[in-house]
Order: sequence, then structure tokens, then C-alpha cells
Amino acid sequence: MPLAPVEIAFLKQIIAERSGNVISANQDYLLESRLAPVAKSVGLPNVNALVAELKKQPGGYLPERIAEAMTINETSFFRDGAPFEALRTDILPALIQKRSTTKSINIWCGASSSGQEPYSIALTIREFFNELNSWNVKILATDLSEEMVKRTADGSYSQFEMNRGLPTPLLVKHFDRSGPNWRAKPELRKLIDARRMNLTGAWPTTTFYDVVFLRNVLIYFDQPSKERILTRIAKVMRPDGYLFLGGGETLINLNVPFLREPIGKTVCFRPVTT
Ligand SMILES: C[S@@+](CC[C@H](N)C(=O)[O-])C[C@H]1O[C@@H](n2cnc3c(N)ncnc32)[C@H](O)[C@@H]1O
Repeated sequence: MPLAPVEIAFLKQIIAERSGNVISANQDYLLESRLAPVAKSVGLPNVNALVAELKKQPGGYLPERIAEAMTINETSFFRDGAPFEALRTDILPALIQKRSTTKSINIWCGASSSGQEPYSIALTIREFFNELNSWNVKILATDLSEEMVKRTADGSYSQFEMNRGLPTPLLVKHFDRSGPNWRAKPELRKLIDARRMNLTGAWPTTTFYDVVFLRNVLIYFDQPSKERILTRIAKVMRPDGYLFLGGGETLINLNVPFLREPIGKTVCFRPVTT
């Protein structure tokens, strides 16, 4: 039976509460296709039964599973190119100078999906900055989806995923064959700390970040959530840090403490300290 408008509204409310993600009307069809496997996995025949179960027993692990199942995990290696180029040409050279006393650089990918984005940063570091081998460089990769976090920690990708953006010389040099997949070598994996973290929940971090990638995720939030998340991000960044958003994302009309700064063919955002 197709989902009734009241069931659709109920599911959207659960998703918004758990992940902050706003499901638009033209994505309603995704509720059925994404949540049918969740229903089956808990022994229920369909999504209508899942809604009934949730109404009977609110709480528990189901709302979390539903929010995670509705995430859009599209990503690829070196997606949009220019931010990684900016890291190589401007940002990492500047940080190497400015952090020469502490020899420590902290980078955070705040919605890292299956990990191609943090691995693209790790590849940029390993490929072009040998001097950082003796530094304390960490890339925190976080995502709402437990499954995506596991994939990032594992660092294994199919040939198809590799073909989406990873140049062959980097593949051959930094990945090993692992059955039908390719797995990042330990030297690459050890740069990355993959953890589950909800951008709308608690942030268990005491680190201040030099670079934050928060790309292609703000589009799923409403305006107040975007402003809350970005304001919190500014607070966990170093005053001279750099924030990257997705190519189609801007801060226009958002009341947040960042200033836009072009670098090469891209733009980043610098925190405004008060
Ligand atoms: C489209 S992907 C973007 C991946 C990567 N940043 C990129 O640009 O290629 C969006 C990711 O945001 C994650 N996400 C959605 N809501 C989130 C939330 N509330 N907290 C943390 N991650 C979230 C999803 O699980 C998904 O993996």
C-alpha cells in the first residue's frame, strides 16, 4: 500500500529530529525505496508496518536506522578538484610555515560519506608533502551513517569507485589489491580517524581544526540548522583556519561568522574572530 500523507509526514518528522535532514516533496518516493529494506531487516513486511511499529514503540534504535537510511552518500575522489588543488598550492604550504613549532595539523571532514574525500586529502599530503611525514597530521572523518564510517575506516573501494576521480598513478602507489577491491595502504589509512558523529548532536571533540571540509551536506538542512552548525564549526576552528563548502553551497543570507576568500579556482571561508 502506498504511504499515506500522514505516514510520510510522520517519517519526515523522525528524520528531521534525528539528523536535521529535510526531505523535500520531490524526494518522497525515496521514503518507500530506502525504508523498505529497513522494514524487512527487522521482520516487517513493508514501510506502512514500520510506521505502525514506530508509533507503537517510539524511541529505540529504529528512528536512528531510518535517518541513516535516508542519507544521500554521493561522493568521489578529488570531487570538484579545486579545493584539493588549493590545499596543495596554498593552504598546506602556509600551514607548514605557521605550525612549524607545534608540527601539528588537524583537518576535519564533517560529512565524509564513504571516505573518498578524506582519502583525497590524505593522498595530497602523502604525495606532495614528504616533510609532513614526521609531523602529527590527523584527518578526522565523521558521518552520521555507521555504515559509511565503517567503509572509511576500512578504506576499500571498488574499481568503479576508483575510476571516479582517482588518477591511476595514485591508485597504484597508495592502494593494494584486496579481492575485487582496492584497499588504502596502512600509511594512508593511519592519517584518518573515522568516527560516527551527528552534526546536529553532540560533538565529542576538544581539538581545534586548521582545515574543515563540510561539503555537500548543508543542502540537506533548514536555515536555522545551517546557521547553528556553521556557528559551532567556527568555534572549533583555529582563527586562521580554512573552511570548504560544496561547489553549490554558499553562506549568502546566513548569519554566520565566516568571510569568503577566493583561493585559485575555488573559494574558502575564514572564521571571523570576535
Ligand atoms: C552527499 S554526501 C557528501 C560527501 C562528501 N562530503 C562529498 O562532498 O563528496 C553527504 C553526507 O552527509 C552525511 N550527513 C547527512 N546528515 C548528517 C548529519 N546530521 N550529521 C553528519 N553527517 C550527515 C550523509 O550521511 C552523507 O554521507
